[in-house]
Amino acid sequence: TIDDLKGMKQGRLRLAAVTTTKYFIPKLLKPFCELYPGVSVSLEITNHEALLARLNDNLDDLYILSCPPERDDIEATTFLDNPLVAIAPANHPLAKQRNLPLECLAEEPLIVREEGSGTRKVIQKFFERHGISPRINLELGSNEAIHQAVIDGLGLSVISLHTLKFTEVKNQLAILDIEGLPIRCQWQVIYPKKKQLSITATTFLEYLLATSQQFSVDK
Ligand code: PGA
Repeated sequence: TIDDLKGMKQGRLRLAAVTTTKYFIPKLLKPFCELYPGVSVSLEITNHEALLARLNDNLDDLYILSCPPERDDIEATTFLDNPLVAIAPANHPLAKQRNLPLECLAEEPLIVREEGSGTRKVIQKFFERHGISPRINLELGSNEAIHQAVIDGLGLSVISLHTLKFTEVKNQLAILDIEGLPIRCQWQVIYPKKKQLSITATTFLEYLLATSQQFSVDK
């Protein structure tokens, strides 16, 4: 309706997303902003735990993350794959091998994200489920810092394939062929059920569901 269009003209869209989405959310925002030039968009990038704190404080319209907590008061929609893969320096001896057992990850120093990271939580649970105790030798607060530390030979890591796909850094890294990997996570958009979404937020959600498959990295 005309009213809807008016709403869209002056809309505001407040998004919050976890760190590993920053490789595709801006790309996806460009055509959205071109379609709706009157909408001003803000995108907050934090880790999983900080994002849930923002949700509890009702700071944003929509929240984008993997593996949200199962809560009755949250509406969640899955929209894209988010595989977590094991990475090593490109010239690492394991890089040439196929069908490696999961235990090989316990024999190498492992680099993980900071406490509060969703990626870290998923990996921890995964190792627990398989009865593996990794040797964590370094915690780093960013995916890019992990890329560099792995390239520099400080250890291996398990990280979202999205952090590699559209970056130069992937040429210096190898994705290891390990049984049980990748860990198959999914991106989801969530918001509190009691919240009435704005026209702008509803429009963005529909746009996201319609266009996000072009950023699939699943092999
Ligand atoms: P992270 O989030 O940036 O906190 O690791 C990842 C996720 O929620 O999948």
